[in-house]
Amino acid sequence: MYSSKITGLGYYVPENVVTNDDLAKLMDTNDAWIQERTGIKERRHIKKGDGNSTSIMGAKASRIALDRAELSPDDIDMIVFATLSPDMYFPGGGVEVQEMLGMRTVPALDVRNQCSGFIYAISVADQFVKTGMYKHILVIGSENHSGGLDFSDRGRSVSVIFGDGAGAAIVSRNESGEGGILSTHLHSEGKHKDELSLKGPSTGYWVPQIIAENPQEDIPYYPYMNGQFVFKHAIVRFAEVIQEGLESNDLEVGDIDMLIPHQANLRISQFIQHKLKLEDDKVFNNIQKYGNTTAASIPIALTEAWEMGKIKKGDLVVLAAFGSGFTWGSAIIRW
Ligand code: ACO
Repeated sequence: MYSSKITGLGYYVPENVVTNDDLAKLMDTNDAWIQERTGIKERRHIKKGDGNSTSIMGAKASRIALDRAELSPDDIDMIVFATLSPDMYFPGGGVEVQEMLGMRTVPALDVRNQCSGFIYAISVADQFVKTGMYKHILVIGSENHSGGLDFSDRGRSVSVIFGDGAGAAIVSRNESGEGGILSTHLHSEGKHKDELSLKGPSTGYWVPQIIAENPQEDIPYYPYMNGQFVFKHAIVRFAEVIQEGLESNDLEVGDIDMLIPHQANLRISQFIQHKLKLEDDKVFNNIQKYGNTTAASIPIALTEAWEMGKIKKGDLVVLAAFGSGFTWGSAIIRW
């Protein structure tokens, strides 16, 4: 059995900065409410004509990660692409990146686990590398939320939270055998699927039915989120799955050098930090600048923390996520 490690990281966010005051021009909201409830000051949105899409942003982040791993697209044996906002209903973003980067006819797998998508994707990559089947896997998390949010008053409790962006990581065979991805831990609880969801268009709720059953001015093809319900479950599951990961490696909270939580809401991250009694410099948050970028949030945060020198060789890095499904997971990494 081999082990795997992250050998390259990259992220890309659109240039267009959207502040809370900008959103207040579109809907009945304000900077104080958004900052107090979520910690978010601004986020990035794709601008019409700026040439970005979920897959294009994923490809941009991937090129940076490949350069840093000193690999070319030809070296990659598999793509795992996590998103809830693909460019097309089908096929998924993985094949688009395969084409954009001019890669060999390698497998391209799409992961649909929303906020936990990147942890699920890393876990899949880790298994393929561990068994020896593949040597280098490109893992991407990318989202174009702004293309599908309700920016009227009706959607304000959801649309102020989310932003666009992409992050990528190269998961490679750990030739030295030192450290690397120690373990990943994945969970789901489908009974809460309705609490954070987008019901249609889907095969269960197709366009003609949506139009026939709803008044023209109230067509429900926007996400629904039971915010307080999600919050209460998130804080329990985040803490649980971090503890599970640590215990399975005979580690303790005190061993954590850097926790990168999915950037759901700054209040959720602060709650977990407080619950685990972690010092400020052991938890990385950048939701203030980018909002919640779902599958992209962990690779963007991980890349930024690494670029800022906050993650060093030998550090114990813990990634953790919770989101729609509900699904949740953690990854324990010795850097
Ligand atoms: N601006 C101003 N007022 C607003 C806005 C807004 N954008 N959105 C809602 N309000 C109003 C509501 O209408 C309500 O008004 P009322 O009291 O007159 O009825 C009031 O603010 C309070 O609304 P709540 O929904 O109860 O606000 P809450 O304190 O629960 O905060 C929030 C909402 C931020 C969504 C919170 O529930 C939350 O963070 N939940 C966690 C969900 C989360 O983080 N999701 C991220 C995606 S999922 C994930 O990644 C895990």
